[in-house]
Amino acid sequence: MVEIALTQTPAHVRHGSSIGQPLTRRDGVLKVTGAAKYAADHHPPGMLYAVLAVSSIARGRVAFLDVAAAKAHRGVVEVITPANRPVLAQDPDEKTNPFMFRLDLLQSDRVRYANQPIAIVIAQTLEAATEGAVLLSPRYDAEPARVGLDANESFVPAVVGPGFPTEARRGDVEAGLAASTKNIAEAYGTAAQYHNPMEPHAIVAAWDGDTLSIDTPSQGLAMAQGRLAGVFGISPDHIHIRSPFLGGGFGCKGFISGPQVLGAIAARAVGKPVKLVLRREQMYGPVGHRASTRQTLRLGVDGDGKLIALDHHTKTVSSTFDDFFEPASNISHTPYASTAIATSHEAVRADIGTPLFMRAPGEATGSIALESAIDEMAQACGMDPLAFRLKNYAEVEPISGKPFSSKALRECYRQGAERFGWERRPLAPRQMRDRDGLLVGWGVGTATFPALMFAAQAKATLRRDGSGVIEIGAHDMGQGAWTALAQIAADALGLDIDQLEFRSGTSDLPDAGIAGGSAHTATAGMAIHNAGADVVARLADIATNEERSPLFGAGNAGVIARGGRLFRRDDPSRGESYAEIIGRAGRAQIEGHGTSAADQATHSDYAMFAHGAVFAEVKVDPDLGQMRATRVVGAFAAGRIINPRMVRSQLCGGMIWGVSFALHEQAVMDPRSGRPMNANLAEYHVPVNADVPSLEAIVVEESDPYVNGLGIKGVGEIGITGTAGAVANAVWHATGIRVRKFPITLDQLIEPQ
Ligand code: MOS
Repeated sequence: MVEIALTQTPAHVRHGSSIGQPLTRRDGVLKVTGAAKYAADHHPPGMLYAVLAVSSIARGRVAFLDVAAAKAHRGVVEVITPANRPVLAQDPDEKTNPFMFRLDLLQSDRVRYANQPIAIVIAQTLEAATEGAVLLSPRYDAEPARVGLDANESFVPAVVGPGFPTEARRGDVEAGLAASTKNIAEAYGTAAQYHNPMEPHAIVAAWDGDTLSIDTPSQGLAMAQGRLAGVFGISPDHIHIRSPFLGGGFGCKGFISGPQVLGAIAARAVGKPVKLVLRREQMYGPVGHRASTRQTLRLGVDGDGKLIALDHHTKTVSSTFDDFFEPASNISHTPYASTAIATSHEAVRADIGTPLFMRAPGEATGSIALESAIDEMAQACGMDPLAFRLKNYAEVEPISGKPFSSKALRECYRQGAERFGWERRPLAPRQMRDRDGLLVGWGVGTATFPALMFAAQAKATLRRDGSGVIEIGAHDMGQGAWTALAQIAADALGLDIDQLEFRSGTSDLPDAGIAGGSAHTATAGMAIHNAGADVVARLADIATNEERSPLFGAGNAGVIARGGRLFRRDDPSRGESYAEIIGRAGRAQIEGHGTSAADQATHSDYAMFAHGAVFAEVKVDPDLGQMRATRVVGAFAAGRIINPRMVRSQLCGGMIWGVSFALHEQAVMDPRSGRPMNANLAEYHVPVNADVPSLEAIVVEESDPYVNGLGIKGVGEIGITGTAGAVANAVWHATGIRVRKFPITLDQLIEPQ
């Protein structure tokens, strides 16, 4: 056990009256009644419709576009191609920081991937714009498409993911493997996935001189504002983005995409508001995806079944013109205490749109391979896979050697296993059948995700009528941010939640960073918490220095704020309401400000992660190979839970994606054309309710005083990790067949291996 000392004073949580409550979504009624207006629901007066023409080849150049035919179509107002594209202030291929991805903004006739925008048609109706785009009848000088993991010569990227080192090692893996009593070496493949939020990328853009006003979904308002400012050469404060509701994001709305910028370009070109909405198939290219991988894992154990070597190598693929490399091997840094660990990556370039962050980027992809390999190692040792994990899970983060909170992981294994009924699991595969003769299998996987935090700002106001306002440009992708952050805000201000006005979702509000990395609640929440503390301190200053106040002389630290009232810590009967204090001071309102950022000193002393354990049951038809995940139980420890209802919903959403990763989701590329062949929601399979009949998320209590003042860890992404591997391991347990190519498809179960 590691003894860890407190280096950061936990923030004083004022009340805990809203935090921890299972409130329903505050925007739920708006959403289910259709009153919530999404970007594409906006129709400013005089608005025109823009439709993109996209490339049907993956590599080459556009040799001809029949602009005349498109323009001659009734209702078509303008056609924008590389030949007449407006001059931009910044080259879309410029990249001045790693979070700036190259965009296709019609800068040339070059085609770099299928579904790349090659022209915009703007018309009075959607139908006319659509027909105009068809009439462009592009002709291409096509070159052979290079797709897949063997498309090109491989190389070692400089960094992977958001700037992580490509390689890491601790100890000597080769020596460990040589000394091992048992070892395995296996290769696993994962398919490309596309984000596919229900709401496609959409924008309604309107210019007024040099001021741009847009409705568009964004997981990162300030970054989107900055990117647009650069492209158009205007000041960020001349750009107003409204993004109150997102129909999902999963990472593809983290950075503003090329098609969204093209909507703003179109509006500027015609001098009228323009709406541009991507069609589903147009989302398979220019807005990011999760890259495919081929991963090799080599594991070795000593005579006690303890891991002494773990080597994880990933080959992945990026575009020909930008850099994003799926950091799949890095998952092996964390859950298992192998004496020696080595992780590495290589990549190839292919004629595809640039891959990007997609929910648990790297962790999801790497986890299914690692959890499969751990299972195979347990099998080689003749051990129960849970017992093997309990023997080998890390008590100190293995790669960094830093203490972390894995005591909670042990509790996740225990609670999850008990709820699932794991102890009744036969060791050997192919032992269980249900009443219909279907093979039944049980699998387990370890879940892990870093507890990240970015920087944010918030503003808090207390008004003369005793009510309060929190302003922060935060993002609700559907995860429940409006609800959870408002709960933090209410407690920070010492108000009941219905005395609070929570303003969010627009770019004119203080920068809340990005809703990504499962870090939004911690990041925005701590800024809100600090803004609340600031305004309450100001209020207390006024009261404790005012002779007429019952709080006179109490001193700031001697005062508590709750229920819209300040009172003395040593005598709660002595106090007064916010309204009384502000009114007597003759003020209309009092303002406070707060910021948040990860504490660097604490981060260098501790490794910060959320943990979990997932147990899955699958049933497989022994003759047809059809399979279904019938029962999934996940137990997760993620620090302080702001809203257990939202948190369970997030965890379940992640677990469904884990099922999807193992059994459903894959983009199929045509190697001849380089086009995704299932660029739609009929053939690109994601699970529906019938695919996951029983799903349970257990929230394991955990108090982690190191991650941030509120003790919040993220829950958005961890659910995918662990689950994907648990489902895959359950398929093995049902059938005795170890499939190493994901998703597991029925042909892999019925054909001879
Ligand atoms: Mo995410 S991939 O952190 O939106």
